[in-house]
Amino acid sequence: MALPAGLDFWVNKSDWKRHRFEEAPVPGIGDGQVLFRVDRFALTANNISYALTGEALGYWRFFPAPEGWGRLPVMGFGDVIASGHPDVEVGTRCFGFYPMSRYLRIEPGAAGPGGISDAAPHRAGLAPVYCQYQPTDGDALYRSEHEDALMLLRGLFLTSFLADDFVADSGFGEEAVLISSASSKTSIALAYLVSASARARAVGLTSARNLEFVRGLGCYDAVETYERIDSLDAAAPSVYVDMAGNADVRRRVHRHFGERLKHSCIIGATHWDRTEGNGRGLPGPSPAFFFAPAQIQKRSSDWGPAELQRRLAQAWSGFRAFSEGWLQVRRGSGREAVRRVYEDALFGRTEPAHGHILSL
Ligand SMILES: NC(=O)c1ccc[n+]([C@@H]2O[C@H](COP(=O)([O-])OP(=O)(O)OC[C@H]3O[C@@H](n4cnc5c(N)ncnc54)[C@H](OP(=O)(O)O)[C@@H]3O)[C@@H](O)[C@H]2O)c1
Repeated sequence: MALPAGLDFWVNKSDWKRHRFEEAPVPGIGDGQVLFRVDRFALTANNISYALTGEALGYWRFFPAPEGWGRLPVMGFGDVIASGHPDVEVGTRCFGFYPMSRYLRIEPGAAGPGGISDAAPHRAGLAPVYCQYQPTDGDALYRSEHEDALMLLRGLFLTSFLADDFVADSGFGEEAVLISSASSKTSIALAYLVSASARARAVGLTSARNLEFVRGLGCYDAVETYERIDSLDAAAPSVYVDMAGNADVRRRVHRHFGERLKHSCIIGATHWDRTEGNGRGLPGPSPAFFFAPAQIQKRSSDWGPAELQRRLAQAWSGFRAFSEGWLQVRRGSGREAVRRVYEDALFGRTEPAHGHILSL
């Protein structure tokens, strides 16, 4: 069967509202190279934040594009359709970072059931986890019936698992963990973990349009809108985990809690157009970026990699089952579906219960 032509979704790096599709021939492969047909991928606000930190954290370097344009990484599944690498078989299905494209050509360095790593020069210096393609056969978390949840939630859950562990491990003495953008999937995962541990209350902050949805989830002990930060219990020692990145919300949280705020942790920037203003001069602790790889490294050394994986797998299994109660998968395919979901994610119009799975 003839393969469809290549198709890539490009975002303008200096104005993400500008984007376009570009057709290309099906990429050929040389010795040592491997070609994936990108099967399906998830698209959430997290992928939009890759544009925000694309230069600083290297996300624009995953997949080359012409000057001024970039290809956002998304988590998905792809199938090897051509291989010039002795250790990668045609038909291998892998989970990993793909572009919003029909094809991805990689140049594996190491390859085996434990992972295929893209060693292409444009990816040099990126964290190993960003270059890894995980064959489904060697993946302890893989179940074919859970593919949608894996694409939508796995990466976000890992961050929340590590953030929850970091807060629990730090001895802040918090009675409440305040979580902004409470309707986001990453925040829901964190609230789930905090409330499952029962060591502190999970308190969500969200926008009025998402309040009802968040209250209905059952993983938050309390939920308020951004307008009602002043109504939160400021006597309780608390930790703020900021998924919204909204400078005004952060300022009001710090002013309301003052010295009762024991830590202020920046993870996300869903409100990417309201992040202006640094945290200097705020009452309470200085906001600090959470760096997930450092916590992985710490726990790999504390517990050993196998025990870390065991704990992660156990926690994932609980959260994935929990997600069945609220996550509604929405499938789309083709240019128009990708364009619409991208714009909805960019402008914050996505229904929080929806998880979009796309293909080109
Ligand atoms: N640093 C890391 O390693 C890491 C890893 C994973 C995720 N994250 C971060 O976690 C955040 C959440 O990602 P996600 O994929 O879980 O999100 P998601 O499920 O797509 O969440 C969408 C929610 O984000 C808010 N939102 C999105 N776009 C908005 C806009 N343009 N204006 C205002 N609000 C908007 C809304 O929540 P509210 O109404 O509740 O505010 C919306 O319901 C991202 O910023 C991402 O960068 C960081």
